[in-house]
Amino acid sequence: MVEKKQKILIIGGGGREHAIGWKIAQEERAREIFFAPGNGGTAELGKNINISATDISKLIEFAKREKIDITLALPDDPLAQGVVDEFQKAGLRIWGPTRAAAELEWSKAYAKDFMKRHNIPTARHEVFNNFEKAKIYIEKGPVPVVVKASGLALGKGVTVAQTKEKAIEALHKILVGKVFGASGNEVVIEEFLEGTEISIHALSDGKSWKIFPASQDHKRVYDDDAGPNTGGMGVVAPLPFVNSTLLSRIEKKIVKPAIEGMAEEGRPFVGILYPGIMLTDEGPKVFEFNARFGDPETQVYMRLLDSDLLDLIEASIDGGLENQEIKWKKQFACNIALASGGYPGKYEKGKVISGIEDAAKEPDIVIFHAGTKVVRQGLTTNSGRVLGVSATGNTLKEALGNAYKAIGKISFEGMQYRKDIGQKALALEGKK
Ligand code: AMP
Ligand code: GLY
Repeated sequence: MVEKKQKILIIGGGGREHAIGWKIAQEERAREIFFAPGNGGTAELGKNINISATDISKLIEFAKREKIDITLALPDDPLAQGVVDEFQKAGLRIWGPTRAAAELEWSKAYAKDFMKRHNIPTARHEVFNNFEKAKIYIEKGPVPVVVKASGLALGKGVTVAQTKEKAIEALHKILVGKVFGASGNEVVIEEFLEGTEISIHALSDGKSWKIFPASQDHKRVYDDDAGPNTGGMGVVAPLPFVNSTLLSRIEKKIVKPAIEGMAEEGRPFVGILYPGIMLTDEGPKVFEFNARFGDPETQVYMRLLDSDLLDLIEASIDGGLENQEIKWKKQFACNIALASGGYPGKYEKGKVISGIEDAAKEPDIVIFHAGTKVVRQGLTTNSGRVLGVSATGNTLKEALGNAYKAIGKISFEGMQYRKDIGQKALALEGKK
């Protein structure tokens, strides 16, 4: 049977969206790809349209006018706004969780209660909306302690505090200073989990699921996990230290009860469920749920995926995922972020990027754009994370070597990147 070629709209404009577009562009069934708003890299794969990822009514208007066959909703904000519900109401086909299903990500308070109800291992916690009460709780409790704005906060709402003073300072910023606006109306104060952090992705159709190989992001800005948290400075997959027994345990204790729990609660989860997991001495525990593909995790998954993503997405929307096989290349992949000087704090934009073509010629390299813009002078920087240099290899070490070699050819004023991506995974390799 010849399937109809499809017109696809990808919502978002970061490295994740470039990577998804890059994969789909190679698949038989993709006819034309649009990105809203896209970036300098996605412009080479399809058409960038000047609509923000959160302008739902304009997105709907565009999808109708262009007769888009399927829209992929990737970033957290539009999902939290209910882009999937709105498209569905307009009779348009879209992939991603509904607003109710995505609450697992946009309300940490909801996610914590959900985990309690379904016996999913997670850090002990309390939720507060009153500064004085929360302060007393912190004063009485141990450190380190983790303070989180309940809502979405561009990845900046979490403070791992080593002292009570720091914890109270973070608390004050959220509940009194309102630095995250309404996202900080509630605060989750959580036990500090000690262990190795990994990312898990499971694709679900609401009833069944397929778990991806484990990956590991590096969220701190500097080497050796120093400095503030970022959107993610580099990622590797699969993880040599996560064997099939551990992955099955994570599936059984975390993914299964989460997907089944959401279905039971009348919020079937369609899309990617991405729990952030700490491997503790007491076993794997969830420290957060995301209701979408991770960025930069997606970049390595797309380099390793050997099945058609569109087939998997259709099965996720229509059901029947249990009959779908997901094939992965028997390789390792990494993706290393090249960021603007100053990121995740203040940084300048508009720096000319050089060396990309040369770097892309290196074996096994694909360069994903995270925040770039094409102007008269050429390609320039346009956000904190600028490029993701991805590489594959037959070993993790080989993939990392390939990526760093290519990075050596790229430059822009102020460029910063971590030199130690994957080192934790390599050090744990022998200890499975
Ligand atoms: P998030 O913004 O939710 O991705 O959290 C940022 C980072 O904070 C995570 O990647 C973890 O490294 C860390 N984190 C969050 N919750 C905990 C916890 N309960 N214990 C230790 N670290 C945590
Ligand atoms: N990998 C970080 C995130 O997507 O939230």
